[in-house]
Amino acid sequence: MSTRRKPPSGLGPRTADRHELYQTAVQRPTVMIGFIEELFEMVRGREPMVLREDFCGTAFLSATWVRSLPGRRAVGVDNDQDVLAWAERMNRQSLGGEAEQLRLVCDDVMAVDAPADVGVSLNFSHWVYHERKQLLAYLKHAHACIEPGGLFVCDAFGGPASMQPCLDERPFGGFKYQWEQVSYDPITGNIRCAIHFKFRNGGVMKNAFEYDWRMWTLPEIAELLTEAGFGEIGVYFESEDGFIADIEEVEYEAWVAYVVALRD
Ligand SMILES: C[S@@+](CC[C@H](N)C(=O)[O-])C[C@H]1O[C@@H](n2cnc3c(N)ncnc32)[C@H](O)[C@@H]1O
Repeated sequence: MSTRRKPPSGLGPRTADRHELYQTAVQRPTVMIGFIEELFEMVRGREPMVLREDFCGTAFLSATWVRSLPGRRAVGVDNDQDVLAWAERMNRQSLGGEAEQLRLVCDDVMAVDAPADVGVSLNFSHWVYHERKQLLAYLKHAHACIEPGGLFVCDAFGGPASMQPCLDERPFGGFKYQWEQVSYDPITGNIRCAIHFKFRNGGVMKNAFEYDWRMWTLPEIAELLTEAGFGEIGVYFESEDGFIADIEEVEYEAWVAYVVALRD
């Protein structure tokens, strides 16, 4: 009789792809594109055509953007060659005839000048900058890359519950997504977070993604956007009913917000 153990059945830490799990659990690109379209229509009265996705990771948003309307183009920028290879294989090539409309650039976001109607930095990517002068330099660069009449969207989270260690869990088909706030330093604003995935078979993919960020507040981000040259700034909070601007309805303990800045 063989003593070799059978491989675990179904999804598990060895068989699952962390980028696929991330896309399923974290990203809702069609919702984000609907939000951008609504904003653009409201302030500019037309459809945005070119997206610049800074810190694009798997470029799921960029690929969905290209698919969302004929003629749309996107540029995704990330400095991690591995994640961009995944983006190329899983998201750009699957665009088929429209693949040429998505350009993936492996470089520092500050080194890429590609112009766009809409620039985004999502899932708190710009929190990689710990110093004020670094974030300001990035926002100035984002401003320079967005065409006049365009807009920039970046996100932030906050509330008292986000300033302490915690573990949130959400179930998906075949796995659970865990968001861990590992530590928060009130002196520097440094926050360390991690994403883990738990599987039905008991396995865990621990620290599938790890983040070492500075937690920036909404007034700090708004001030820096203004200093970087942007015009009017709006803040919209995530809610079960979509994106809301009414502070009375925001879940005070823990919120996620999108800061929208107009490029005059
Ligand atoms: C938090 S992930 C966000 C991925 C994606 N934007 C999303 O919404 O899920 C941040 C990404 O930024 C990339 N990154 C970090 N610093 C960068 C830099 N200076 N220039 C370009 N990419 C960078 C990382 O490789 C990582 O893929």
